[in-house]
Amino acid sequence: MAQDDVFKKIVAHAKEYGFVFQSSEIYDGLAAVYDYGQNGVELKNNIKRYWWESMTLLHENIVGIDSAIFMHPTIWKASGHVDAFNDPLIDNRDSKKRYRADVLIEEQLAKFDEKIEKEVAKARKRFGESFDEELYKKTNPRVTELVAKRDALHDRFSKALNDNNLDELRQIILDEEIVCPISGTRNWTEVRQFNLMFKTEMGSTADGAMTVFLRPETAQGIFVNYLNVQKTGRMRIPFGIAQIGKAFRNEIVARQFIFRMREFEQMEMQFFVRPGSEMEWFRYWKEWRLRWHKALGMGDEKYRYHDHDKLAHYANAATDIEFEMPFGFKEVEGIHSRTNFDLSQHEKFSGKKIQYFDPELNESYTPYVIETSIGVDRMFLSVLCSSYEEQELEGGDKRVVLHLPAPLAPVKCAVLPLVKKDGLPEAAREIVNDLKFDFTTHYEEKDTIGKRYRRQDAIGTPFCITVDHQTLEDGTVTLRERDSMEQTRVAASELHRIISQKVSINSLLRKLG
Ligand code: GAP
Repeated sequence: MAQDDVFKKIVAHAKEYGFVFQSSEIYDGLAAVYDYGQNGVELKNNIKRYWWESMTLLHENIVGIDSAIFMHPTIWKASGHVDAFNDPLIDNRDSKKRYRADVLIEEQLAKFDEKIEKEVAKARKRFGESFDEELYKKTNPRVTELVAKRDALHDRFSKALNDNNLDELRQIILDEEIVCPISGTRNWTEVRQFNLMFKTEMGSTADGAMTVFLRPETAQGIFVNYLNVQKTGRMRIPFGIAQIGKAFRNEIVARQFIFRMREFEQMEMQFFVRPGSEMEWFRYWKEWRLRWHKALGMGDEKYRYHDHDKLAHYANAATDIEFEMPFGFKEVEGIHSRTNFDLSQHEKFSGKKIQYFDPELNESYTPYVIETSIGVDRMFLSVLCSSYEEQELEGGDKRVVLHLPAPLAPVKCAVLPLVKKDGLPEAAREIVNDLKFDFTTHYEEKDTIGKRYRRQDAIGTPFCITVDHQTLEDGTVTLRERDSMEQTRVAASELHRIISQKVSINSLLRKLG
């Protein structure tokens, strides 16, 4: 099945099974804004819990905060967002559609990558076992030509971005003969900068309302609380402050479901370090964050790093952790070495001294910062995409199953009486009443057992517990495992231990040590 079709199916599945709904759907929706349904919110909360506990429980020098969304407008002047938080946009005069100029060029680069990959795949098939991919890429004339073209475009594009050269971006679009996907024409406007922050007003107009911004990142709430936390928590460098919260960006191109939203959630951690030690900590967090992802067991090959060519206005090193979505490898998390830019700027704009006295060095300095920043929604999407499978079963049967990492699953177990009589519902309820204090537990008695299993598979429930007549005699139940569909007979008194082993977030945390 084409990857586009797979993605469409995942989006439809997310709606059908109460994971994600279009916001304001009964009013025809609001672009790039989504609501999480009854299963979505549980999955999202589990992702947040895994992140929060991995930061605050496993690191004794990381504490959390929850800062307000509204902040003093000067914060965004100091941080550079008022002047530099822009995307280059371009319009097609015929379709009247607006695009991000950088995204159009990135898509062109991706086309070269696809062509190269196609050539390599053909050769791999042709040469079989003896195929040497590296050698082939270096020597095959068709591939070397494609690689050279791709690299030249990449260098030109990086330079234009770094120089903030909007004319050059437009020229690249023209030279590469990039067409509007809607009109099919190359009738492009100039490239303009567009600030992504939403504005609103605080206070009544009669009082002279103040223009405030909806935060485009949670990080600034951490920076402006650096002194509060350091002093009240008696924190010693190196230490970190973690936060989970909403962020807002007026994205020009809203596409790919919850991948690029206008209202989304971030999990950010700012780690304050001694100047000069930032690269060592950058490497530490780069490695640690990838381990966090891999511990979920969604496939190590689905991740890769992407080091940045164009650095944000505050960074001296940056890398993305990318995940293989059905529409290609995409950024899920950013790890940035933000220097002392933010704290210095807030010191300058607020007039307050923001320094750390280092007792070991006997000197004061402005700490440097390593940031880890992951989007909850993108993480959610990566989990959903990697879990979705349409399976052909023996006997021509089919099922759709979400192989969610068990600790993230919205429902951990479903208790199903085989029939709605003979005391089986009562026995099943007893089991629910025992398990519900520790696990999200569903009780279902409607439809055949097969249909009930399918419904639980579709929302990724790791265990189904079937209560039958034998249960009444010897206290055992059938425990069905989601992925293997294997059924074993176990004592009901053992359920808590067996389920807990597989679904607890602690088991994930232990992998991280
Ligand atoms: N504080 C740094 C910062 O905000 P970023 O790379 O712009 O860095 C960090 O964003 C993460 O936030 C991204 O890796 C992505 O997961 C998520 N994110 C950013 N923009 C988003 C959007 N429009 N919709 C959903 N998630 C987004």
